Amino acid sequence: MHQAQEQHGGCVFSEAAAAQMERITMDLGRMYHERNEALREVSRAHHEVLLRLSLAADVKDDDSGVHIIRIGYLAEALALALGEPAAFARMLRRAAPMHDIGKIGLPDEVLKKPGAYTPAERAVMNGHPAMGAEILGRSRVPLFQMAAEVALGHHERWDGSGYPGGLAGEEIPLCARIVAVADFVDALTMDRCYRRAFADEQALGMLAQQRGRAFDPRVVDAFLAQAPALLALRDRINAQPPSFEQLSELD
Ligand SMILES: [Fe+2]
Ligand SMILES: [Fe+2]
Repeated sequence: MHQAQEQHGGCVFSEAAAAQMERITMDLGRMYHERNEALREVSRAHHEVLLRLSLAADVKDDDSGVHIIRIGYLAEALALALGEPAAFARMLRRAAPMHDIGKIGLPDEVLKKPGAYTPAERAVMNGHPAMGAEILGRSRVPLFQMAAEVALGHHERWDGSGYPGGLAGEEIPLCARIVAVADFVDALTMDRCYRRAFADEQALGMLAQQRGRAFDPRVVDAFLAQAPALLALRDRINAQPPSFEQLSELD
């Protein structure tokens, strides 16, 4: 190179250097693209594993396994109805299905018990939010951090009488307040091992009764205002449940 520069002046050196620079830039561009693709794939696979674990936890409760998928889409729609940014709503669609992942650690005798819990059984049951947050909260990925907040906060109550933290009002993260409402209505309107589904109108009436008690009044109002669209969304999901891959899509 030094020779070429001496023989032909600076011109040859510049062209060779420019060509090499271009190759390096292209290589870097390709590597950057490949790295991003690999990161996306790792994060998608990570999400899918945790969704499958959530499904394993939930299938004890819901034979169809579609409850967790519905919760994701309902929570996204509710977040949008509340005027939250689309990116927050989308992340909630992906995070919400993992809210009960901590149930994976609960014995069936407790989970499927039809009658009232003894204090000891209640304590076991009430451990599932913290267990879920423990499973999810080890990640630094924002999606899983949100999922951990949802898992930990979805049984807190607006009036402060929930668990595990006894948080009240806006102390409870918004993502958890939204999922709590979506979960309540969806769980009421599906068959459980210990009771039949409630009719939609009955479930909406029960939701209204919990306005300002179990649930954030704004979230309840948003649900009730959008109820026909939200219930239609639920019916569409039941008719043709999206796959985990679709649930994970970013757009
Ligand atoms: Fe739960
Ligand atoms: Fe649930």
